[in-house]
Amino acid sequence: MRAKIISTGSYLPKNIATNDFLSTLVDTNDEWITSRTGIKSRHLVSEEETTASMAYEAAKKALSDANLQPEDIELIIVATCTADTLVPSTACDVQGRLGAVNATAFDLNAACSGFVFALTTADAYFQSGMYKNALIIGVETLSRIVDWEDRSVCVLFADGAGAAVVMADETGLMSASLGSDGDKCHAIYVKSRENNNPFCPGEKPMDHLYMDGAAVFKFATKTVPKSIRETLEKVNLTPDDVDLFLLHQANMRINQSIAKTLKVPMDKIPCNMDHCGNTSGASIPLLLDEANKKGLLKSGDTVVMSGFGAGLTWGTVVLKWA
Ligand code: UT7
Repeated sequence: MRAKIISTGSYLPKNIATNDFLSTLVDTNDEWITSRTGIKSRHLVSEEETTASMAYEAAKKALSDANLQPEDIELIIVATCTADTLVPSTACDVQGRLGAVNATAFDLNAACSGFVFALTTADAYFQSGMYKNALIIGVETLSRIVDWEDRSVCVLFADGAGAAVVMADETGLMSASLGSDGDKCHAIYVKSRENNNPFCPGEKPMDHLYMDGAAVFKFATKTVPKSIRETLEKVNLTPDDVDLFLLHQANMRINQSIAKTLKVPMDKIPCNMDHCGNTSGASIPLLLDEANKKGLLKSGDTVVMSGFGAGLTWGTVVLKWA
């Protein structure tokens, strides 16, 4: 039994920050952001919107799309690196909001690769026979960890949530590969709260996200095509056999480079970073829901999802769309 995606849902905060708006906050401009990243605008939470509330809204839509009740769900996995609380997990918060009383719920942190890691985790449970369905959610409130005075970071990241209901089935996920390189764990990082126990005294302000953009760019353009090729090879497929590539939305130039390396046309690589920015763990499920709602996914299509990010981590899945 493998993981088959049967429905999707998403939630984007109401507030939209355009490049022109950001240029009133930091020394930047629409031309720089658009040409270097492909991003034109992004959604940022209001005070009422949180990681858990966005995850809940996306989950509700995916459940309704699947014609399932919350109590039908056996497993909830939330991929996030920007939970509202250190404990409990966002997944437990979402479980409570939904009333998914029969589910086991936990979070997983693989940064921008999180949704792919969550999908493969559900798949492994299905293969073991432990669960038969799962609600998987990628959600981030990255606006809470970026430095709003750092133009090299604040123009990139954004907020949102995407969800999918997956069922154990004979078709669905065909092949997967995941990886991580802890040697590069400082290429993108943000510290958790500082320790102020009696042996670690002193004033310690909250930290912000730090990123070595050039190193991450180089890593992504090298690792993602390799990971995609290897995952396809496991099931005797090549990039030519793929109908749609749903890639992490970090930078249009990264996706164009991946397309070039794999020799696939950009019309097989939909992008939504122009209006969503980089939403880390939420980026692939947001794009998945958008592609699903636009009718870009047809029954029998071969679909690749591939993510990369902090860790460094990367992960690719190949699946048949139901
Ligand atoms: O989600 C996964 C993790 N993240 C990524 O995948 C990000 C990967 N990296 C990237 O997407 C790119 O490296 C960035 C978009 C972050 C940066 O693009 P770049 O073309 O590599 O620019 P750069 O960092 O080399 O900076 C070029 C110039 C610098 O000025 P000088 O030193 O040449 O005078 C920067 O100070 O652009 C300047 N700059 C900006 N200028 C206007 C940096 N940020 C901005 C800005 N507006 N927002």
